[in-house]
Amino acid sequence: MSHDIEQSLSAGESGPQRTRRILDSMGETLEQGEVPIEILNDEDIYQRELTEIFGQAWVYVGHESEVPEPGDYRQRTIGEDPFVFVRDEHGKIRVLFNSCRHRGANICRAEKGNTTHFRCPYHGWTYQNTGDLVGVPQKGAGFDHLEAEEHGLREAPHVDTYNGLVFACIAPEAPSLEEYLGGATWYLDMYFDLIDMEVIGDPQRWVVDADWKTPTENFYGDNYHVPMGHKSAIDVGIGSETATGEEESELYGIADCDGHAFSIYQIESEKPMFWGHPERVVETFNHDALDDDQHEVARKSGVTLGTIFPNLSFIFLGGRDDPNKDPVGTFCLRQWQPRGPGEMEAWNWILAPTDAPDEYKERVYEVGMSTFSAAGNFEPDDIGIWDGIDEAAGSVFAEQTEATTLFTMGRGENTAAEVDDDWAGPGTAYANGGVTDENQLDFYRKWHETMTTEGAE
Ligand code: FES
Ligand SMILES: [Fe+2]
Repeated sequence: MSHDIEQSLSAGESGPQRTRRILDSMGETLEQGEVPIEILNDEDIYQRELTEIFGQAWVYVGHESEVPEPGDYRQRTIGEDPFVFVRDEHGKIRVLFNSCRHRGANICRAEKGNTTHFRCPYHGWTYQNTGDLVGVPQKGAGFDHLEAEEHGLREAPHVDTYNGLVFACIAPEAPSLEEYLGGATWYLDMYFDLIDMEVIGDPQRWVVDADWKTPTENFYGDNYHVPMGHKSAIDVGIGSETATGEEESELYGIADCDGHAFSIYQIESEKPMFWGHPERVVETFNHDALDDDQHEVARKSGVTLGTIFPNLSFIFLGGRDDPNKDPVGTFCLRQWQPRGPGEMEAWNWILAPTDAPDEYKERVYEVGMSTFSAAGNFEPDDIGIWDGIDEAAGSVFAEQTEATTLFTMGRGENTAAEVDDDWAGPGTAYANGGVTDENQLDFYRKWHETMTTEGAE
């Protein structure tokens, strides 16, 4: 990479030109494991992400259990666009654009609730929870030609559910959700088909001065940071027994999985692991839902994490918040919501098995809150680091030097990361997944491909 200051500060470089330079440069260096740090915390790249990534991809909207009854709704965003995630009076889940067909005001202003109708606060147009326009004040006196059926709320053209996870795509044309998820379905089945899960409480949210790509990259499989970044929590015995090395385990990094990635601890033990769930809870699982290979991976699974492109992550923690208490299988679903260049809002849903006893669900929630939430023992470790990355990324000096970040770990022949050809699931499984950058590179490959596809000019 050239550090020629004159070249990088080409006089009068416009936003789009600069974006093109950065993307071109990334195309040349990505396979060597170098990513321009300038892709983080950049206004023009961010605007392009909103249209080319969040405007095209299947984006997570919420979990079915958040809207169990007809009329239940939640405000959600796709990229930065406002939508209402609602179960209509017929039981159908819809993702309605939160914008009145009259002058565009938000028709829904509460974060959540249950309603048969949404009434716009501006002039009072009223819509059923199906999106149909059913009330217009002074319609007879003021509107000569207003066909209500032509003015229902706009809605996301593609909405689909996979094992309770609801996604929407706002592009006119889209592959099916299953096609989009590709090999990731094999893994998602292990969590959401084997276990009927429900969201406990409301999602917690917090704003971080970090680009949405920074935590996404981390959750693609930055297992390398755990012993250093989370040392204090690990030292006092909080977290997972798989991470503290109490059991013989192998950490697999699953890359090359249709743009999505996973990290899975496999633990050799007589005891069925199932992410730390105790036997009485494991008994409630749908064991027949998995094939033998999936079931064996689930049986041996300790801490597991992953990301569905672009911004849905999860961590399945066989963990505890107190070294004197038993671990529980806490599942945290994460969404890294873009909120501007170098800024994101983390959303965190804690899920527990639906058929588990209430006191167990409470423990799942407690452990989730005290480990991976804004005030948990692990989360601030990451937050306090991520914001510095994005500060550097947006700096003049990073631009002057065309600074890059490095993803070369585990990519040579003599590293400890080895492909396990016997891995039963889709993707490429790297044994010793703590020393490979293949997972994170997959994120940047998918990101770069999406940002540079034809038409993304
Ligand atoms: S903007 Fe909604 S009724 Fe006018
Ligand atoms: Fe972390």
